[in-house]
Amino acid sequence: MPVPNLTLNNGVTIPQLGFGVFQTPPEDTQKSVEQALEAGYRHIDTAAAYYNETGVGDAIKATGVPREEIFVTTKLRNGDQGFDSALRAFQNSREALGVDVVDLYLIHWPYARHGRFVDTWKALEKLSGDGRIRAIGVSNFLQGHLEELIANTDVMPTVNQIEVHPTFQQKELSTFTVAQHMEVEAYSPLGQGADLESDVIKGLADKYGKTPAQIVLAWHLAQGRIVIPKSVTPERIVSNFESVDVSLELDELGRIDALDGDNRIGADPATADFDQMQK
Ligand SMILES: NC(=O)c1ccc[n+]([C@@H]2O[C@H](COP(=O)([O-])OP(=O)(O)OC[C@H]3O[C@@H](n4cnc5c(N)ncnc54)[C@H](OP(=O)(O)O)[C@@H]3O)[C@@H](O)[C@H]2O)c1
Repeated sequence: MPVPNLTLNNGVTIPQLGFGVFQTPPEDTQKSVEQALEAGYRHIDTAAAYYNETGVGDAIKATGVPREEIFVTTKLRNGDQGFDSALRAFQNSREALGVDVVDLYLIHWPYARHGRFVDTWKALEKLSGDGRIRAIGVSNFLQGHLEELIANTDVMPTVNQIEVHPTFQQKELSTFTVAQHMEVEAYSPLGQGADLESDVIKGLADKYGKTPAQIVLAWHLAQGRIVIPKSVTPERIVSNFESVDVSLELDELGRIDALDGDNRIGADPATADFDQMQK
């Protein structure tokens, strides 16, 4: 089955299943993204803070897949927040990626104590108006951050990229995000591997003759979220992509829903205060 496209609130389409490169070493990134493109992924998720945008760009240059068929997301580091610094940071990301236009550009964290995400967003609005970015969005924004942003700016974010996996589902924040006509993008969708050990997930994997990761990714896809699993392992890159062929029964989706808990892996956006700058 082909990967479904979702239509963002500005009309731009995004492949629902993408490929993440957080913690992929810079020297391995080109190879890993080339393997993903070969496997069929057409959506790559990187960030300035991953320090591997150049590897993503090299893969885009090296592949035979036309640029317009690849959806590329990158993100603004916390320490680059502010109107002028965001404009500069975007230019650096664009050059590292070697692309004219970035498909989706996100504010990586609210970094709220510094009070700069509204001004930062205005820079993203300008870049988007200038045709440098096809869609703009946010990541790790809690409801209060979204409300403040929406009240003080003109363009709605298209997505909120947040941590979502079976044992940490953020249902209230997801419901609020969707009610505002934004897509939820699930990061760490496999719980960085930890959620694959659940008996419920393993049981469903046995039933269908699929991998636990395919079961978890099929659950995300069935619930309409964008999902961006990461792997540097060639067989996993391929098998994760094949999750589009897996469909679960309603009661099985419900059994995974019931695994919800408070197993947050990443930082809490309410308190996260790192600048993401390389020292
Ligand atoms: N916006 C944000 O703040 C934020 C934060 C975190 C992540 N993200 C994005 O979301 C993407 C995914 O999140 P993530 O990298 O944190 O976690 P993830 O995709 O949930 O898990 C990645 C881990 O799971 C392993 N894995 C992958 N496929 C597997 C399989 N089929 N079977 C067993 N293990 C498997 C990988 O190992 P190997 O690589 O060794 O195969 C890696 O250790 C990131 O790459 C990034 O693009 C965004």
